[in-house]
Amino acid sequence: MIVKDLTLLNFRNYKELEIEFSDGVNVIYGQNGQGKTNIVEAVFFCSSARSHRTNSDSDMIMYGENECKMKLDFRKEDREEEIEIILRRNSRKNIKINGVHQTRVSNLVGQLNTILFAPEDLMIIKEGPAQRRKYIDISISQLKPVYFSRIAEYAKVVQQKNALLKNVKQVADMGSFLDMMEVFNQRIAFLGAYIIKDRIEYIGSLSKYADEVHKKLTNSSEKLEIKYIVSLSVEGINFDIVAGKEGEEIHDANVGEIEAALKRKLDASVRVEAKRGVSIIGPHRDDFVVLLGGKEIKTYGSQGQQRTAMIAAKLAEIDIVTEITEEKPVLILDDVMSELDENRRGFLLNALYNVQTIITCTDKSIYERHLGENVKCFNIDDAKII
Ligand SMILES: Nc1ncnc2c1ncn2[C@@H]1O[C@H](COP(=O)(O)OP(=O)(O)O)[C@@H](O)[C@H]1O
Ligand SMILES: [Mg+2]
Repeated sequence: MIVKDLTLLNFRNYKELEIEFSDGVNVIYGQNGQGKTNIVEAVFFCSSARSHRTNSDSDMIMYGENECKMKLDFRKEDREEEIEIILRRNSRKNIKINGVHQTRVSNLVGQLNTILFAPEDLMIIKEGPAQRRKYIDISISQLKPVYFSRIAEYAKVVQQKNALLKNVKQVADMGSFLDMMEVFNQRIAFLGAYIIKDRIEYIGSLSKYADEVHKKLTNSSEKLEIKYIVSLSVEGINFDIVAGKEGEEIHDANVGEIEAALKRKLDASVRVEAKRGVSIIGPHRDDFVVLLGGKEIKTYGSQGQQRTAMIAAKLAEIDIVTEITEEKPVLILDDVMSELDENRRGFLLNALYNVQTIITCTDKSIYERHLGENVKCFNIDDAKII
């Protein structure tokens, strides 16, 4: 996939911008706070319907304005495609694909595949589970739009259930409380089972590909593994899933098993949830771990090892997307190079073969040493290309 042309109107600090990308490497450079990340944020938003740095769409509208617009032309399977998104304050996203208005946001995800690598990602291993969930949720959504719809609905159901749990005392009687919990828990078990299944499969491939990349990067034989861990055991019934086996696939029949196990766990936890006043069972609380040579890298790995693991995971994502979509995704490196040492920069840049890349940085000389001919540079200064 090749991003051709981006137009922004009232997007963050851009009153108006048009930028035409090269098919190869694009280096967007300039001082801090000039609007480099804003450009890649818009490209990423067109592919994921989410920003990598805010969960509130209206943050992207220029201060003092009521709406902003992004228009992105790109090439996919030799077709020219166009995505147009208008964001208004307190209103739903307005999305057009090739001029046709879309009622579902999930129609947008999966049109354009991008992989973004930002300094925040280097923290994914260290940070809390919410960061890790956001990371895999975005990756899976781009490959599977129905996943995007399911997590959106799932989040809504959990939110409603939390509202109930917070106000348990106001519910007239125990019977109606349990009835409402049953309705929420059925839906959580149903959607949750599919979410867990998709995460297990995705993390299974990520683990396999990341290990391959990691071995090449480090010339070492230490195994890199990524595992998704779900505990669904309840008293008397063991049902724990630890996923990360190579290319693990779960068939629909097993989704039924996960759903049943999740429902049992939810049923067994009604009292605890009521007492805590919050929903604690389900994939919105799940997490994954990264192991190197069998040991958890978060605790036992050096910062360098954690960074290398993250680079391996990002490069593995390129392989996964390429295998599934039969096209290379667009790679976005947002200011990530300055955080890496010379050696790791080299790894990353050598992998950029045949992948359209958009890089933002303050110092473009880092790249001049590594990159060949097909490079287009843009100097951004106070929301203008100069
Ligand atoms: N909604 C907004 N409206 C206007 N300006 C914004 C908005 N959000 C961020 N900015 C401005 O964008 C600039 C930061 O842009 P960014 O792309 O993050 O910079 P960098 O070049 O360091 O990557 C800051 O000057 C900030 O004030
Ligand atoms: Mg930036």
